[in-house]
Amino acid sequence: MNLICPVCVEKLNNNSKSYVCCNGHTFDTAKEGYVNLLLTAKSGAFIGDNRAMALARRDFLSKDYYRPLAQAVKSELENLPDASCAADICCGEGYYTEIVSEGFDGEFYGFDISKEMIRLAAKRKTGVLFAVANMKKLPLPDSSVDFAMHLFAPFCEQEFARILSDKGILVSVRPGRRHLYEIKQAVYDSPYENDETLPDYPLLKLIEQKRLKIKAEVKSSEDLHSLFSMTPYYYRTSESDRRRLDGIDGMDVTLDFLICLFKKA
Ligand SMILES: C[S@@+](CC[C@H](N)C(=O)[O-])C[C@H]1O[C@@H](n2cnc3c(N)ncnc32)[C@H](O)[C@@H]1O
Ligand SMILES: [Zn+2]
Repeated sequence: MNLICPVCVEKLNNNSKSYVCCNGHTFDTAKEGYVNLLLTAKSGAFIGDNRAMALARRDFLSKDYYRPLAQAVKSELENLPDASCAADICCGEGYYTEIVSEGFDGEFYGFDISKEMIRLAAKRKTGVLFAVANMKKLPLPDSSVDFAMHLFAPFCEQEFARILSDKGILVSVRPGRRHLYEIKQAVYDSPYENDETLPDYPLLKLIEQKRLKIKAEVKSSEDLHSLFSMTPYYYRTSESDRRRLDGIDGMDVTLDFLICLFKKA
C-alpha cells in the first residue's frame, strides 16, 4: 500500500477500520470503503461537485456513449505490462476507473476532491482504493505511479510530475476541436471549435498525442442535455439557448477526444 499521510507525508498503514501513520494521524474508512484524506479548514465545508452533479454524470456515463474512450485509455495501461501502481486523478464517479482497472493486478487508486463522486465510485465492484483527495496534494510518494490517468479535469503539472515514476506515463484526455460540434450547432447561432493548444509544461514531456474521433448516435433530447451539461460551456449558455435542444429527439454527435501521453521531463 502506497498511500501517505496528508499531514506529515509518512506512510499510511491500514487496519480494517482506518488508515494510520506512525505519528498517529488517523483517517477512518467510510462504510462504502473509501477514505477521506482531504484536510479542510472547516469540516463539512462543501467542496467539488455536489450529489446531483455526481448522479447526473453517473447516469449519463452508464449509457456507454464514452466506452470507446475508456477502452482507448485501458489499452495504454495494457501497453505497460510492468506497471504496478496506477491512479485515476480526478476520477469522478469512477466510470473510467472501473473499466480501466479491470484485470489490473497492481495497486489502483482513484482520487477526487468531491466526496459525493468518491462515494459513488466506491460503491462500484472494483479492486480500486478510492480516496477523497486534492490533485494539488496527492497522497502518494514521489516517483511511485507507473500509470496515471486524468480525464476532463483541471491539470496540476507539478504534482503529476512528482508522483510519476521514471518509466511512468500520464494519460490525460481533453476535448478535441470538433467535440460535440453538432450540439453547439443546434444551440448557438455561431458555433465555435475548441482550442486544442496545449500549454507548455516544462516538468512533463509530451511523448504522443492521439485523437479518438467517433460518432455517437444520441437517442433522446434528455441525453443531449446530459451530454451538453457535462461540458464547461453549458454553464456559459443561456437557458433559452439550452432549450433549443428540447425538440430534438436524437442526433449523431461527434465525440472528439485528444489523448495526450506524458512522461516526466
Ligand atoms: C468533469 S469531471 C471529470 C470526472 C472524471 N474524470 C470523468 O471524466 O468522468 C471533473 C472532476 O474533477 C474533480 N476535481 C476538480 N478539482 C479537483 C481537485 N483540485 N482535486 C481533485 N479533483 C478535482 C471534480 O470533483 C470532478 O469530479
Ligand atoms: Zn501523519
